[in-house]
Amino acid sequence: MEKNNLSQLLYMNTDLVTYYNKRAKEYEAIYQKPERQEDLKTLATLLRDHFAGKNILEIACGTGYWTNVIAKTAASVFATDISEAVLEIAKSKNYGAARVSFGMEDFDNYRPTKRFESLLGGFIWSHIHLQDLKKFLENVNRCVLPGGSVVLLDNNYVPGSNLPLSTINEHGNSFQTRKLSDGSTHLVCKNFPSEAFIMKQIEGIATDIRFINLEYYWMLIYRPVQH
Ligand SMILES: C[S@@+](CC[C@H](N)C(=O)[O-])C[C@H]1O[C@@H](n2cnc3c(N)ncnc32)[C@H](O)[C@@H]1O
Repeated sequence: MEKNNLSQLLYMNTDLVTYYNKRAKEYEAIYQKPERQEDLKTLATLLRDHFAGKNILEIACGTGYWTNVIAKTAASVFATDISEAVLEIAKSKNYGAARVSFGMEDFDNYRPTKRFESLLGGFIWSHIHLQDLKKFLENVNRCVLPGGSVVLLDNNYVPGSNLPLSTINEHGNSFQTRKLSDGSTHLVCKNFPSEAFIMKQIEGIATDIRFINLEYYWMLIYRPVQH
């Protein structure tokens, strides 16, 4: 971990919505990293296969990078995010013949009027504070029809490819210091869970579990257990 002055970190912006609103236009640069291209192709293939013909709720869709991938085979995608700026970019894309619609939703308070066959959440797990994960997963499962599926994907920590961690708080959440092109600096919660930790979190609420561990990314697929 990089040595940082704690008092400096405390004055940094920690609001995730502000961060993504400001980052929106430069967000997709993260998908240009050369070392990650092979893994990204693998993820895209897995997602297109899994979601073929399905009606999907996508949470935290961002600029629509994965929306665009799954729209190639899905029956429909309702893509949601809390940030207006990222949604504006997502909405400006051409998704071909697929039925793609968007909603500005805070997933923490989102109660869909209907359930979906499948849910996709890309790179949102890592931003959820550890103490809120149980509630997050309950919300996720509540959005899915009986027999439906949940797909969550996120980063593995690879030194040199990921930003170093700046600090870890009293709950065990790790944070990175991120700079944007406007010169602003943000302290962003970014957790890197192990497979064992993920399995522990979904114990009793998931069945038919598949965990795909690539070098730079992991993908979790399961069916929610309906209580
Ligand atoms: C790392 S980005 C991932 C974007 C996209 N899924 C992707 O993989 O390219 C995280 C996204 O989560 C969104 N987000 C953060 N908190 C949220 C919340 N409470 N409800 C909905 N979206 C949220 C942010 O606005 C941001 O677009």
